[in-house]
Amino acid sequence: MWVFWLNVLFLVFTSLHGLPLAEQFQKAGYVEISDRKQEAAAFDFLYARFDEFIEFLQANRAWARKLYNAKERFIRSKEQNYYSTDFFGFYDESDRRSQISFYYSIHFHEFISSRYPEFNQVPAISRFLEACLEVHRPYGNVFDEAAAELGLREIFSSEYGRPPILFKVIKYFPSYTATRPHYDGTAFSLFLDSTDDQSLHLSSYKASFTLDDFYSPERDKCSILLIPGTLLTEFSIYPTPHIVLQSGETRYATIAFAMRPNFTSPKIEFSPLPHFSR
Ligand SMILES: [Fe+2]
Repeated sequence: MWVFWLNVLFLVFTSLHGLPLAEQFQKAGYVEISDRKQEAAAFDFLYARFDEFIEFLQANRAWARKLYNAKERFIRSKEQNYYSTDFFGFYDESDRRSQISFYYSIHFHEFISSRYPEFNQVPAISRFLEACLEVHRPYGNVFDEAAAELGLREIFSSEYGRPPILFKVIKYFPSYTATRPHYDGTAFSLFLDSTDDQSLHLSSYKASFTLDDFYSPERDKCSILLIPGTLLTEFSIYPTPHIVLQSGETRYATIAFAMRPNFTSPKIEFSPLPHFSR
């Protein structure tokens, strides 16, 4: 049975370029997966719930504070170790960076629902969290498959038996401007949906970068993109730098991050990234 599934996985990741996954990361910086797993309508629904959620929290600052306090308590719980990060919850940076994001995880959702049952009574909050739960569900398998194909299944081993997923929904406002590309502090990042695919530019990892190294991958409308983050360098898999360029319009995107359970990331200096002004 395992052999059968491994063959299926092998096909999923090699069908486009005929290369093993590690080599595709090295050459292009990403791998395109044609099975999107969710219909476009699922993301439209998610963004509508996100707008409702943002509107409620901006109009009701006491609830925003309560959500922030819940996050502060959550990152002191043992589940935090499973994700090895402190990024959870609502980040309203509409003033400073013209963007608002929410970092969802299933354990954070469970923590809120059980410790703060009053959140369940607020439809603008509970409906958004439910939408995140539904939309992010199928992507754990993609990370399991990627790790298996690289021979790194052990990176996700934990008492929970599945990869820790941080699911990020982000809204960019027309005044958003891009400055510098970045590396994600993840094992893998999966670009699931965007209302403007062209604004994502990336490059495979290099010893040094110029602006011309960055490009927008040509892709099928219904595909998703998998890139490596900074947490796999011990296996000689280097992170793919990327940037979301300004589009002058309101834009939404959804990304799933695979983290590493109980992992302290070593201090590594990656190649410096160029400044964008185009
Ligand atoms: Fe990123």
